[in-house]
Amino acid sequence: MRTSTVIVAALVIGSAAAAWWTLAKPQPWTEEETRLVQSLGLASLPPLPADPSNAVAVDPDAASLGKALFFDTRLSANNKVACGTCHLPDRQFQDDLPRAKGVGETARRTMPIAGTAYSPWVFWDGRKDSQWAQALGPLESAVEHGTDRAYIAHLIEAHYADQYAALFGPLPTLDAVPDHASPNGLGAVLEDWLALDESQKDAINRVFADVGKAIAAYERTITPQPSRFDAYVDHLAAGEDTSGILSDQEEDGLRLFVGKGECTKCHNGPLLTDNFFHNTGVTAVPGLPGDLGRSVAVEQVLADPFNCLGPYSDAGPGDCAELRYLGQAGHEMIRAYKPPSLRGVASRPPYMHAGQIATLGEVLVHYNTAPAAPDGHSELAPLNLNPTELAALEAFLGALDPIEGQP
Ligand code: HEC
Ligand code: HEC
Repeated sequence: MRTSTVIVAALVIGSAAAAWWTLAKPQPWTEEETRLVQSLGLASLPPLPADPSNAVAVDPDAASLGKALFFDTRLSANNKVACGTCHLPDRQFQDDLPRAKGVGETARRTMPIAGTAYSPWVFWDGRKDSQWAQALGPLESAVEHGTDRAYIAHLIEAHYADQYAALFGPLPTLDAVPDHASPNGLGAVLEDWLALDESQKDAINRVFADVGKAIAAYERTITPQPSRFDAYVDHLAAGEDTSGILSDQEEDGLRLFVGKGECTKCHNGPLLTDNFFHNTGVTAVPGLPGDLGRSVAVEQVLADPFNCLGPYSDAGPGDCAELRYLGQAGHEMIRAYKPPSLRGVASRPPYMHAGQIATLGEVLVHYNTAPAAPDGHSELAPLNLNPTELAALEAFLGALDPIEGQP
């Protein structure tokens, strides 16, 4: 065949296919579909769940101390890294990078923070069971803040003593505590920790936990903001005319999201996440240490002294049900990760737990083809959506961006 014949043939096939791919004219939503769509709107978001493990969770003074700490770069080994370095408030509290950069480079992508107070488990693998326990992780991570709990306690004494005392009572005496000490440290930092007596260790741990509790009080105030999708849902729920709120293409995408695309299997509720863990066959990044996701995190959260059942928790005997009834992680938890909220997702590439996928279009190709998992088993099956359908789904995800402001 000559080249020109090939081109003509391709054009003929192309136009036939384009007609074939045109989506059917939308039917009105059925009652069941309406209920499902409504369940995804922000109006269905319940009040924030209480955090009985954090006595200052809803204290405005704690939130204001927590906010100061969140943006204070003195809480780092090089005086340059704060939580806000990676969790940028004007970027949905994330950093646009595949892998975060603190004093070093992390092996995972920075997560957005809005609505995390709804999640029983925090981090991609859920190895922490509260926002306050989570906050202590990056402070002692060698690649994030690169500090240690003794250093943090001294820093609170030097710069935040009054605010601290007003919330948590007087600071312990830290005169005999070395500048650096932590059970998670290396070399002298670990040795200095081991040389402390139990009451000194306990006093430092308490200040450290309180720092987390203040930061958590601030993070609780970071909530998702309404999108055009929410305006659409509000009109639909009220039986009002929804035309013009979403484009036809976005509306087609919504139908696929709740229908043939099966996205709501995992991205459900008003935050568009079930806050559970799934293996979706996302590739491993060559050169990074092995990452088994949720399967190893369960033991970590159970062993964490800062968990809901631990000595630094304010929870009562009837609390901490999630942790109490946490079963062993089975085979299905290998490389299982928490689905992020899809609110604002279109404007925060790259995607997935280590930034493996650069664009939203490629994310949808991933779901369409459902590649085998590098370890464990992917829960996905190929969707076989056509290009028009994929474009519609992508357009719909764009309608989840907040109308104004952040996050
Ligand atoms: C160097 C960049 C960096 C710094 C600094 C940093 N984070 Fe993160 N944050 C990340 C990364 C990367 C993850 C995901 C890590 C993982 O899952 O292993 C994350 C995850 C989180 C999550 C989990 C969200 C969810 O949905 O589960 C919260 C909350 C959070 N960080 C808050 C904080 C707080 C509070 C601080 C400061 C004490 C902080 N981060 C400091 C990069 C950073
Ligand atoms: C079986 C559960 C499951 C289904 C079904 C599912 N997702 Fe996901 N989704 C996840 C998990 C888990 C992640 C994070 C995976 C990772 O990082 O390894 C994720 C990540 C994403 C991300 C990237 C978010 C980010 O901030 O990095 C997008 C976008 C997304 N999903 C959209 C969709 C769409 C659209 C559909 C339907 C076509 C869908 N998902 C179906 C579980 C699911």
